[in-house]
Amino acid sequence: MTELLHINASPRGDSSASSAAANVFLQALPDNVTVNRIDLFERELPQVTLEITSAKMKYVMGAEMTDEESRQWTGILDLANEFKAADHYLLAIPMWNFSVPYILKQYIDLITHPGLTFARDENGVQGLASGSATIIYSRGGDYSPKDGKPDPFDFQSPYMSAWLGLVGLDPVNEVLVQNTLAGPDGINNAVSAATNQLRSIAGAVT
Ligand SMILES: Cc1cc2nc3c(=O)[nH]c(=O)nc-3n(C[C@H](O)[C@H](O)[C@H](O)COP(=O)(O)O)c2cc1C
Repeated sequence: MTELLHINASPRGDSSASSAAANVFLQALPDNVTVNRIDLFERELPQVTLEITSAKMKYVMGAEMTDEESRQWTGILDLANEFKAADHYLLAIPMWNFSVPYILKQYIDLITHPGLTFARDENGVQGLASGSATIIYSRGGDYSPKDGKPDPFDFQSPYMSAWLGLVGLDPVNEVLVQNTLAGPDGINNAVSAATNQLRSIAGAVT
């Protein structure tokens, strides 16, 4: 079996445009793919505490943690190992103020540590996760690249591409679900426009 990790960064449940697009993708997956879903707004993610930041430094240096640091770090290891266990990734991400919702940044800050999700040596940086990633960006407006140049207000795509590269996911497929706020049919039209692309990427997941 192949495992796909579906990370949902919208709190909007059945009203969510990115979730509607994610459902199109999920329905087109081959039968051998199982899905583990993380609804970031429903998970009780830990805060990044003093203990966790201290534990991170000690983890990197190989130093001994206090009992409380060790206890909190175990939660980090569990989250990072859940992330790394997948063979493929689907991230459904609304645009919030030109960037990603804060809950996704919190998740990234919780699981991204040297030696855990990436490694650095004399040859450079190497991701410790692997597999393809499909990212659905849903946006009220249109932030498509223009004349071959990225939209200067699109802070989602450059950030996520850099992070996914850091942790080792490749290739990264981007699906734009845009103009979702363009009237009552905005979400339907945006998802319809992305449907062929979503089905084609999902069908190729092995
Ligand atoms: C807090 C917040 C901030 C938003 N900021 C932007 C923005 O900067 N640009 C934009 O085009 N749409 C913005 N929107 C609209 C959403 O990106 C749009 O409705 C998107 O389709 C929501 O995806 P979802 O339905 O999956 O949650 C914002 C919405 C919220 C709730």
